Amino acid sequence: MESSSSENLNHTVRVPELPTTSFLFCCRYIKTYLWHLMFMLVLEGGQATCSILLPYAIKKIMDAVALAQQLKVDVWIEVEPALWLFGGLNLGIVLFSRASGAMLVLLGPTIRLQVRRELFNYLQGHSHRYFLSHYAGSLANRISEVALGVANTIWTVLFDFWPLIITFSVSLVLLISVNNKLALALGLWLAIYVLISFFLALRCRHYAQKYAAARSLVSGKIVDSVTNIQNAKLFARRDYEQRYLEGYLVKEVNIARKTFWFMERIRWFQFVSAMILMLGIIGYALKIWSDKGMTVGEFAMSASLSLMLIEQARGLSRRFLEFFEYTGNINEGVSRIIQSHEIMDDVDAKPLIVTQATVQFTQLSFGYGSDKPVFQDLNITIKSGEKVGLVGFSGAGKSTLFNLLLRLFDPQSGAILIDQQNIQSVTQESLRNSITMIPQDPMLFHRTLLENIRYGRLNATDDEVISAAKKAHAHEFIMASESGYQSLVGERGVKLSGGQRQRITLARAILKNTSILLLDEATSALDSVTEHHIQESLAYLMRDKTVMVIAHRLSTLSHLDRILVFQQGVIVEDGSHSELLRREGHYAQMWSMQAGGFLPQSEL
Ligand SMILES: Nc1ncnc2c1ncn2[C@@H]1O[C@H](COP(=O)(O)OP(=O)(O)OP(=O)(O)O)[C@@H](O)[C@H]1O
Ligand SMILES: [Mg+2]
Repeated sequence: MESSSSENLNHTVRVPELPTTSFLFCCRYIKTYLWHLMFMLVLEGGQATCSILLPYAIKKIMDAVALAQQLKVDVWIEVEPALWLFGGLNLGIVLFSRASGAMLVLLGPTIRLQVRRELFNYLQGHSHRYFLSHYAGSLANRISEVALGVANTIWTVLFDFWPLIITFSVSLVLLISVNNKLALALGLWLAIYVLISFFLALRCRHYAQKYAAARSLVSGKIVDSVTNIQNAKLFARRDYEQRYLEGYLVKEVNIARKTFWFMERIRWFQFVSAMILMLGIIGYALKIWSDKGMTVGEFAMSASLSLMLIEQARGLSRRFLEFFEYTGNINEGVSRIIQSHEIMDDVDAKPLIVTQATVQFTQLSFGYGSDKPVFQDLNITIKSGEKVGLVGFSGAGKSTLFNLLLRLFDPQSGAILIDQQNIQSVTQESLRNSITMIPQDPMLFHRTLLENIRYGRLNATDDEVISAAKKAHAHEFIMASESGYQSLVGERGVKLSGGQRQRITLARAILKNTSILLLDEATSALDSVTEHHIQESLAYLMRDKTVMVIAHRLSTLSHLDRILVFQQGVIVEDGSHSELLRREGHYAQMWSMQAGGFLPQSEL
């Protein structure tokens, strides 16, 4: 393992590096849309300023009315400028908020799209090993959650925190113009309120996280039960499953109650502080007014300012809490997805050029983990156009050899050469474009049969697809199905039988048509009549190609040029079918035991 990771240091990433903390990750998208976001900042600032200036306009109106009554002049003339201000502010609120709304329509989906696009791109660069150890569903979920988290974090700052800062600052300035002490009192209240809200949210986050974990545990248990519904049915365990789930449901309810109680306490704090602010400011302002320290308009302004502030500040703890939740989701998602790629193209990797299609494994050592290695110092040379069968007991390492040739894993030492080019120094795309592999347990996309077959060569015409399907003996069953080539195959192809799936992958391989062909038990799920037909197509497919075939049914290998017998990662015999029979070793023993059937299940 060490040598492979130290080798990787020499490789660089082609996919853009993505930051791994929520802050830097959000910054990346803020930078991308900086000007749009700045414009929205101005619009939101404008809206908040207009809103909080309304009490000021009301003050102007009331003062003007009072003055007009005092001077016994026409009220309308006196009040006109203040009315213009009032109308202007209201119009401002409408225009600023709707312009900002329009920007949100433009930008909101774009940011989410960009995050998802980049994360998906990054995710695709991960190695086979990464995907073996992560659930597909949870990875897909994380991408959506990070995208939503980034957008919501930005919107919380822009639509909640920023207007609040403006509202608080303008209110302070307005109150200073009325009375310094009143402003000081409000300032103090604000500082204490924001601080306590922040800390309460921090504490509540702990409960919220536990609650979220309990929720996801319950949905995980339900998914597991539904996935295994067949087991539950076959063993008649419906009640058992119900009781099993019940325990987790009860736990979730308990945690939910704790969380909601804590939130209720936060609400107590908010309502009581709002009451104190309201009573305090109005009482204090009344006192100042009665001491002739302010006009009736100023009194009205102080009262309505405090009302508006309470309105704005009420949800502050909840907003902090949501903010923590979003950034937490981003952190969790990016730490899972943005790990360094295990297998990367060399900086100066060139495309693989296949002319002869020779394959060479030299001094190859490989193990999946730190436990017993699968191969040690393995050497195999396969000549151009040679057709080689691989035989060995289950777990001997046959599929692993294919995985290494396709560079799904990097060996710990040694090299694999195709036409004298080391596969670690060519691009992975070109390598996999030059090799066709029919895997042991083929999976299909939940797309139409046509799309699934065409996956082998995207520019193949419909006729070419059909002709490939005919060669793979898939055409008959495809035409017999209700929607023919347009039939959907179900998740991973579950709506097809094992043999049908194999024939679809065979058709796909016929379309891809590369000069190196790997078959891993490609016909194991077929009945002997279908297999007999397909052997002809396979023989046609193999012409002029370098081919490696894994099969447990030895009769399918007997016509190949050469057979390698694997035993625990070591080649114990190497020769043609007749040579190996003459040698009377392992192969001959297996052959005699099979009598046209399969390998015995245990070691000889
Ligand atoms: N992804 C993996 N992670 C860890 N170990 C693995 C992995 N895949 C295979 N192995 C182990 O490596 C060894 C070789 O497996 P491999 O799949 O190459 O066997 P095989 O010869 O193809 O067997 P079969 O005939 O059953 O397909 C086995 O012991 C197996 O348990
Ligand atoms: Mg295998």
